[in-house]
Amino acid sequence: MWELARNTPDLDLNSLYHYLMLATHFRHTCVVAEIQQEFAGFASGVILPRDPTTLFIWQIAVNSSLRAKGLGTQMLEELLGRSYSTPVKYLSATITPSNHASWHLFRKMAHRHGTSIQTTGKLERHWFGPTNHDEELIVKIGPFRSMP
Ligand SMILES: CC(C)(COP(=O)(O)OP(=O)(O)OC[C@H]1O[C@@H](n2cnc3c(N)ncnc32)[C@H](O)[C@@H]1OP(=O)(O)O)[C@@H](O)C(=O)NCCC(=O)NCCS
Repeated sequence: MWELARNTPDLDLNSLYHYLMLATHFRHTCVVAEIQQEFAGFASGVILPRDPTTLFIWQIAVNSSLRAKGLGTQMLEELLGRSYSTPVKYLSATITPSNHASWHLFRKMAHRHGTSIQTTGKLERHWFGPTNHDEELIVKIGPFRSMP
């Protein structure tokens, strides 16, 4: 996961320790995609502490040679299809305005499930300090029905 994040300009690279924590304590809300036993992508998520009906997708990435083949959608469907102590009804994420692939992915999830995608706020550009980071729009997708 760390290697893919490092090689994906659209993603913020977190520490290797961060990915180890995701793979251990947060593994129930993370997924790794493999094709013929080769790592192909990952999605990391957390259940929001103050709203356990919402699964926040922290990062999602697919190896550049394997994009637009449905893997991103499949990973989100896998996470949505799992059972949680409190049923998950919403996905949330933050997306930069220019990340077309990410917008398509989350809009497609809304469309597949006949539900809506809404922008509920933003992480302002200046909150990222001197890192030259674009703003991130906070989106909420759902409600999803018939989840376990
Ligand atoms: C975003 C990302 C994970 C999507 O994964 P993916 O496996 O390519 O997604 P899917 O194949 O399931 O595609 C979902 C939809 O988005 C569309 N799509 C994918 N890439 C696209 C692009 N670059 N531009 C426009 N549409 C795109 C697909 O065509 C598909 O729609 P369709 O079924 O109507 O044709 C992948 O592009 C990626 O790794 N990007 C870099 C990391 C990143 O930006 N992550 C998001 C921020 S955390």
